[in-house]
Amino acid sequence: MSVPIAVTELIKGVDNLVSFLDVADHDDGARAHIKQHRFEALHDLARLLRVANSSAYGLSSKVDSVVRAASVIGTARLRDLVLATSTVSAFEGIPNTLVTMDNFWRHSLYCAVAARVLAERFHKRSADTLFIAGLLHDIGQLLIFNQRPQQAKEALLKALDGSDDLPMHEAERAVLGFDHAQVGGELLRHWNFPDVLAECVEFHHAPKQAKKFPEEVAFIDVANTIAALAEVASVEAEDVPASQRDDWAIIGFTADMIVPTVHATREKFDEVKDLFKT
Ligand SMILES: [Fe+2]
Ligand SMILES: [Fe+2]
Repeated sequence: MSVPIAVTELIKGVDNLVSFLDVADHDDGARAHIKQHRFEALHDLARLLRVANSSAYGLSSKVDSVVRAASVIGTARLRDLVLATSTVSAFEGIPNTLVTMDNFWRHSLYCAVAARVLAERFHKRSADTLFIAGLLHDIGQLLIFNQRPQQAKEALLKALDGSDDLPMHEAERAVLGFDHAQVGGELLRHWNFPDVLAECVEFHHAPKQAKKFPEEVAFIDVANTIAALAEVASVEAEDVPASQRDDWAIIGFTADMIVPTVHATREKFDEVKDLFKT
């Protein structure tokens, strides 16, 4: 699928707004990144260490320094985690009137935690990657809210208007010609994030279209559904649209797994929700 010109333009627009991201172009290790002046912001590091040490991240040993974090998590993973947390915080200063950062973080963290719960349930080795993909999955929404506020509002109203019964990504497509998943995937590619993360973000509403990582993508799709249920404290299978249930088969998720997964996600979320506060 080729990228619509409008998506490319929208992504170019954000480069001027988000200043730290040139670090993504250098692959010479997390330590080098962290030494860079833009990463000296202490709260970023504190947040990173808190995340690395949290039960949500699931490490067996404590991480007390960035250097140790690099050796325990692995440089590449650490870089991804730094970039994921910094990517979302990079948008904090960007005004948008349609979504609060609190709500955005909350949903993103719910999805990250749900992805880890599912990864553990299915003994997936890429649990840390899935956690990061969950954090980033809706990043394209922030970009659209910021760069196309009028159309974003129109799409939001269309999605909220019960008569159409359109999910947000379809409302975006109807109004803008593209959706937040596409924008987010393209943004991550533009910033040289690993392919697996870009695919998880790009196809989280259409896992059957995933190319190289259909299983990882399906995990994020299911995690997104679980996150939405956990946020409203629902464990009703009927609250999940039938179209989403089709995709569950990709990872072998079944309706009877909803209740325990939502409970485990809510529990874990409560343990980690303060980690992401500055
Ligand atoms: Fe989404
Ligand atoms: Fe989402």
